[in-house]
Amino acid sequence: MTDIRTAHTSELTAAELFAVRTLLNDAFEGDFTDEDWDHTVGGMHALVREDGELVAHGSLVQRRLLHGGRALRTGYVEGVAVRADRRRRGHASAVMDALERVLREGCYELGALGAADEAVPLYAGRGWKPWRGPSAVLTPTGIERTPEEDGSVFVLPVGTKLDLDGELVCDWRPGDAW
Ligand SMILES: CC(C)(COP(=O)(O)OP(=O)(O)OC[C@H]1O[C@@H](n2cnc3c(N)ncnc32)[C@H](O)[C@@H]1OP(=O)(O)O)[C@@H](O)C(=O)NCCC(=O)NCCS
Repeated sequence: MTDIRTAHTSELTAAELFAVRTLLNDAFEGDFTDEDWDHTVGGMHALVREDGELVAHGSLVQRRLLHGGRALRTGYVEGVAVRADRRRRGHASAVMDALERVLREGCYELGALGAADEAVPLYAGRGWKPWRGPSAVLTPTGIERTPEEDGSVFVLPVGTKLDLDGELVCDWRPGDAW
């Protein structure tokens, strides 16, 4: 039996969080760092289980993205992954359905994420738009461009007007800015 659940980090047990971290470590094949984990927690998780075993995950955490002189309340998607032997069955789509519902109903102005190449069709197919303008990060010493991320940042506007060719600046955090 397959079931999907949404829960805040605070509602997950240590064993459930360990299962999420294990899934992410495996799905990203050793390329999932402690900082990536730090980015994944503190918000709402969507968890897909098959017969009680975790097979897919994604989370939505709040960030502030600066655009057009505004600090937009942003639901930022992190830690989307499906167990390797359970891919192409719609599990990532189910995770995104759940996170987008939180995004739309959670008073956010914008959805955003940094897409891995292999996940671009997933997001683009759901109406997420690639950001066309320059990306940047607000560091403790000022705004710095993140040219290596240009093209991989996707947004889902939820009730705010955006200029996709303008600058988009994310808040500061350890590890990958986007
Ligand atoms: C990217 C990733 C999350 C996709 O997960 P997934 O569960 O395979 O995604 P879905 O099944 O929802 O959708 C993927 C494709 O399967 C198709 N699909 C969905 N249900 C299907 C089904 N029942 N049968 C066959 N194909 C199906 C979808 O149409 C989609 O096709 P497309 O890519 O050609 O548009 C997964 O490959 C993964 O975990 N990769 C490693 C980690 C990673 O890169 N994460 C993304 C970080 S941004």
